[in-house]
Amino acid sequence: METELIKVTEKDTDTLARAAAILRHGGLVVFPTETVYGLGGDATDADAARKIYAAKGRPSDNPLIIHIADPRDAEKYAYTNDLYYKLADAFMPGPITVILKRKPIIPLSVTGGLETVAVRCPSHPVAHALIEATGVPIAAPSANLSGKPSPTCARHVADDMMGRVDMILDGGSSEIGLESTIVKADDGNAALLRPGGITFDMLRSVCPDVTVARAVKEQIGKDEHPLSPGMKYKHYAPATPVVLLSGEEQKILAFLRAEQAKKKCVILCYDEEVPQLTDTGLLLPIGSSAHPETEAHRLFYLLRDADRFHADVIYAHLPEEDGIGLALYNRLIRASAHTIKKID
Ligand code: TXA
Ligand code: MG
Repeated sequence: METELIKVTEKDTDTLARAAAILRHGGLVVFPTETVYGLGGDATDADAARKIYAAKGRPSDNPLIIHIADPRDAEKYAYTNDLYYKLADAFMPGPITVILKRKPIIPLSVTGGLETVAVRCPSHPVAHALIEATGVPIAAPSANLSGKPSPTCARHVADDMMGRVDMILDGGSSEIGLESTIVKADDGNAALLRPGGITFDMLRSVCPDVTVARAVKEQIGKDEHPLSPGMKYKHYAPATPVVLLSGEEQKILAFLRAEQAKKKCVILCYDEEVPQLTDTGLLLPIGSSAHPETEAHRLFYLLRDADRFHADVIYAHLPEEDGIGLALYNRLIRASAHTIKKID
């Protein structure tokens, strides 16, 4: 398949109309969102869903999120409830996905066989314009090959998806850089399944009883069935092994300097740590420790880029679990397959 890669803004109505036509005819279009890039197909078309799974190399029991242009459109595709509207009023359009009971118009191939469906209304102007132009909801997982970190720029999309999709819309780099927060709300109770740009505290301000699914922080056993099927898969992982470091800052720096002398190590370090480490060409500054949003914005970009060094190991800090830190923690413990080294 030939893939057209084209730069776009929400004002490029001709390009968006062509992309919408591809989607309406059952094709696949990668598009930018404020979280990560999405690999889109018509969410009401069972065949389009099958093509998405094939393009990603994704197990077909791992359900897709459907993207809508207006939070109220959820009613056409799912049974909404009070909790949905509370979340929608507070956080949509934006980086949140809500799980509701599915209406039959959404095929089971989209929901991985589940009777629930994940609904998201993105705030990115290109995503919004594309959904409107298409006139149907767009089913879209992150636009990476299954298991790799989600792409946050068109170059990383192209690395995985050239020849596998009809079109890639390049809308620049994704602002947030981590996938949306997922909240299960189909039974009227709020449970956080995947942390993201909408933080646990933000959710709690709207639904004080929100709980956190165990899989957010812990490792799920092989035979367990997590609330979100995606949590059981290896994820976000570069080919190089990732090791997370916890402990006192000066001790971590001493450990890293010793490791630099022994091994080829890529270090996702804080900007302020750069002068205290050896400049081996493998230091990847991820932002200041005081600005975890910057760390979120850069994490997947750097994890994907880190592989090109063919290093022995990638070291990163174990994030704090508050604010956006919980989302960083969730992605990094999975990128590292829960490999945490305590330095004391
Ligand atoms: O920010 C995002 O959410 C991006 C952009 C493109 O919108 N999309 C994204 O999709 O991250 P994906 O497929 O990579 O991750 C969706 C996650 C999966 O872990 C899946 O298991 C879970 O959502 N999910 C989808 N439908 C579900 C459902 N009905 N019940 C429970 N979990 C569901
Ligand atoms: Mg994904």
